[in-house]
Amino acid sequence: MTTPAIAVFDAYGTLFDVHSAVARLADRMGADAERISELWRQKQLEYTWTRSLMQRYADFWQVTGDALDYALAVSGQRDGALRSALLNAYRELDAYPDVRVALDGYRALGMRVAVFSNATQPMLQRALAAARLDDLVDAVYSTHELGTYKPAVRVYEATAEAFGTPPHAIAFHSSNSWDAAGAASCGWGAMWINRSGRPPEYPWAPVPAVGDLVAALNRVRTAMPPPA
Ligand code: LAC
Repeated sequence: MTTPAIAVFDAYGTLFDVHSAVARLADRMGADAERISELWRQKQLEYTWTRSLMQRYADFWQVTGDALDYALAVSGQRDGALRSALLNAYRELDAYPDVRVALDGYRALGMRVAVFSNATQPMLQRALAAARLDDLVDAVYSTHELGTYKPAVRVYEATAEAFGTPPHAIAFHSSNSWDAAGAASCGWGAMWINRSGRPPEYPWAPVPAVGDLVAALNRVRTAMPPPA
């Protein structure tokens, strides 16, 4: 990786723990809670990919609600109040414990810090404020204005242009391997935040893997030239 100018972070799964919504309400959900959470996330991502390919865009909040409906239906859950509570919890997900230290560290290196996500600006602004991370983020970019989702090539190209940075000078972090691979495939300096130690997934767009955001920061710091 060349010396990066900007540290960019995917949001859901990378900064925010997508399973923290169900975790908060698990006692109302029975034995299926974990399975519902996994399926909710899996279906949410699938809907972003299928909507993009079908050119039937709807925003990430709509997709998130549709995916939850499917996951609840699979488990035979018909409690409307539970659905609302889960969606409300999703607006203010927990941040992972490594996030604040990493964002702080990048700022201390003199780098700009940005978020780049499928979610709408209101979703991202609310989640960042609730996690008290908004003071550590210089800019928030959403694919929403482009009417499609990651990993479409044009969302990485348009966003790099908006950063005003050559793609190789971006230090992108995503715990979603397909997102890290999509960015790397467009020439971004990307790192896969492999929080659960999974094997590599995208042999045609390989991305270096690190265990968490602090390990990513250390990797970038070590690769930087010493101060003059
Ligand atoms: C995002 C999805 C990938 O935040 O979770 O863009």
